[in-house]
Amino acid sequence: MKEKKTEEARLPRHVAVIMDGNGRWAKKRLLPRSAGHKAGVKRMLSLVDQMFRRGVKYVTLYALSAENLARPQEELNELFSLLRAYFAENVQKLKAQEIRLSVIGNRSLLPTDIVQAIEAGERDTLNCGKGRLILAIAYGGRQEIVRAVNAAVAAGKQVTAEAFSALLNTAEIPDPDLMIRTGRETRISNFLLWQAAYTELYFSEKMFPEFSEKDLDAALRDYASRERRFGRVKE
Ligand code: IPE
Ligand code: IPE
Ligand code: MG
Repeated sequence: MKEKKTEEARLPRHVAVIMDGNGRWAKKRLLPRSAGHKAGVKRMLSLVDQMFRRGVKYVTLYALSAENLARPQEELNELFSLLRAYFAENVQKLKAQEIRLSVIGNRSLLPTDIVQAIEAGERDTLNCGKGRLILAIAYGGRQEIVRAVNAAVAAGKQVTAEAFSALLNTAEIPDPDLMIRTGRETRISNFLLWQAAYTELYFSEKMFPEFSEKDLDAALRDYASRERRFGRVKE
């Protein structure tokens, strides 16, 4: 019994994932990048299930960065289509699983119908309390910080770190314990810059569509073995 408790304590409460490598996954198979994004969405659906099933309470997924909006229009159209289909097919499923859906990022950069789908998805799952899925869409960490700074300036108040956190899109969401990036790159690419101050980082060589359930467990095991000190010394 005691051992089980220790295991649970070592499970990250909040996992953030930078889902990178869809394009390279497709290229290796001589497929168009769009096929990589399709395979990415498929893997995203199962990964979310696998994380909630293991007891993770908050899952944040980097689906589209603000900088990604500078990609060719053809690719953006593909990505927007996938987002539309995602909302149409998954909001009710999340609701049935008692998972609350939230979206962070700059919605004014997105097509109106997607903004409406986001708002409907957030509204429909507002009272779900078993877990929370946060999708970062048209998201940039620096942009989010600048929006919060401007909100603080407009309010004419000096802020504490806590008060500042509450001005971010992630107000009320605990900071991520673990951040996984697939796709072999070892950078954060403007994701959750403020929130990741003490997040444990895990980089996988796998391209996102091929990041398996076993790979997830390897990341969770690695997390469990880390010693989080938050600047203090070991007791
Ligand atoms: C991640 O895969 C998905 C998005 C950024 C939308 P990429 O599209 O960046 O794939 P690579 O990095 O080119 O392989
Ligand atoms: C980060 O991947 C954004 C998402 C996965 C949504 P990118 O492919 O955009 O990152 P860079 O350009 O390699 O830094
Ligand atoms: Mg990439």
